[in-house]
Amino acid sequence: MWHTCSLTIVTLLGLLVIVQPQELAKPCDVTHCDLPDCRCSNTIPPLEEKKIPQIVHLTFNEAVTSTSERFFEQLFTGEYKNPNGCNIRGTHYVSHEYSDYSLVHTYWSRGHEIGSISISHENNVTYWQLINETGWALEMDGMRDILSGMANVPIDEIQGIRSPDLQNGGNAQFKMMKDYGFLYDSSLPTEEFAFVNMDRALWPYTFDYLSIQDCQIEPCLNQSFPGIWEYPILMLEDSRDTFGNGQGEPCSFFGACQGYPDPDPKHIFVMLKKNFDRVYNGNRAPFGLHAQTAFFVEPQTWMFDGYVMFVQYLAALEDVYIVPVIDGLKFVQNPVALEEAATYEPFDMQRTVFLLLCKVVVRNI
Ligand SMILES: *[C@@H]1O[C@H](CO)[C@@H](O)[C@H](O)[C@H]1NC(C)=O
Ligand SMILES: *[C@@H]1O[C@H](CO)[C@@H](O)[C@H](O)[C@H]1NC(C)=O
Ligand SMILES: *[C@@H]1O[C@H](CO)[C@@H](O)[C@H](O)[C@H]1NC(C)=O
Repeated sequence: MWHTCSLTIVTLLGLLVIVQPQELAKPCDVTHCDLPDCRCSNTIPPLEEKKIPQIVHLTFNEAVTSTSERFFEQLFTGEYKNPNGCNIRGTHYVSHEYSDYSLVHTYWSRGHEIGSISISHENNVTYWQLINETGWALEMDGMRDILSGMANVPIDEIQGIRSPDLQNGGNAQFKMMKDYGFLYDSSLPTEEFAFVNMDRALWPYTFDYLSIQDCQIEPCLNQSFPGIWEYPILMLEDSRDTFGNGQGEPCSFFGACQGYPDPDPKHIFVMLKKNFDRVYNGNRAPFGLHAQTAFFVEPQTWMFDGYVMFVQYLAALEDVYIVPVIDGLKFVQNPVALEEAATYEPFDMQRTVFLLLCKVVVRNI
């Protein structure tokens, strides 16, 4: 029965594709693209720059495990706070294998965001380049179901996805997002609108219209997906000096940045601060530190120490908010000036009520 239906649908879809090929997205028209559901891709800040709270995201890919917990607990136990007095919070794009779902639930209950990075986290990038919309749905929507069922995270709070190894799937991926009700993707790295140009970084935007973002990893989408957001990965400039001109190389994941003369956490701090200062003194686009969780293990713990040093520095700044990507997105949709940031709801710990519930749900860990 199901097979007959899907065959009919496939046939119909096939006909539609032949009769009516998907149109390419058009260049963005600011007069027809308004917040909160449409934003042109550009580097124009929503407010005067010094009035914008600087948003920072700490994102973690893949399994949440007791090993990663050893690192997370140094960041998120309440020592580091935002200017509104709330704990800093992160985003976890979770895959299935090795994940400890009671820990996932714990982080959600503390106000962290839980997103989907697929079930399989297949490391063969060709797989992600070739799968169709159905394949993307099985992986991303499937992981959302698992997270909801096993970690007891409300399904409508799982709104963001990241593709494994940032291997996006072009139109097929974004069509799936539209059809399955995901709100945003955060997988597309930009060098042109970040890196040494970080002072004019790319703000998050929607795919109603053609994006101006540089395509770093093919296939990039070129059709229109109204209301679907991209939260771009702003590539960092690392500390390599490959060409002897003092310029580093671009890196998307914190752990891929290189060029430290010796294992001293200060080198990490200096590299991260150099990148952050550009955007902080520039157009204040949301800045992210993206990490593959598996990276924070021996023997790189000195790198993690440098990362913590940097987070500590950020937490002391009066106009920096370290919040989940989904809350940064709410800000982009509805920006407020710095004076209002302290009482801005998305920056607040909204889920305190769930902490009580969690006492019942969470296993002793
Ligand atoms: C990667 O996946 C592609 C397509 O699924 C397949 O053809 C190829 O053999 C795979 N490569 C490896 C190294 O497994
Ligand atoms: C998507 O790919 C799967 C596996 O290759 C295939 O069975 C299915 O027919 C494809 N679906 C569509 C709509 O093309
Ligand atoms: C649109 O993107 C697809 C890959 O996702 C590509 O095959 C196609 O050639 C692109 N079309 C144009 C006009 O660039």
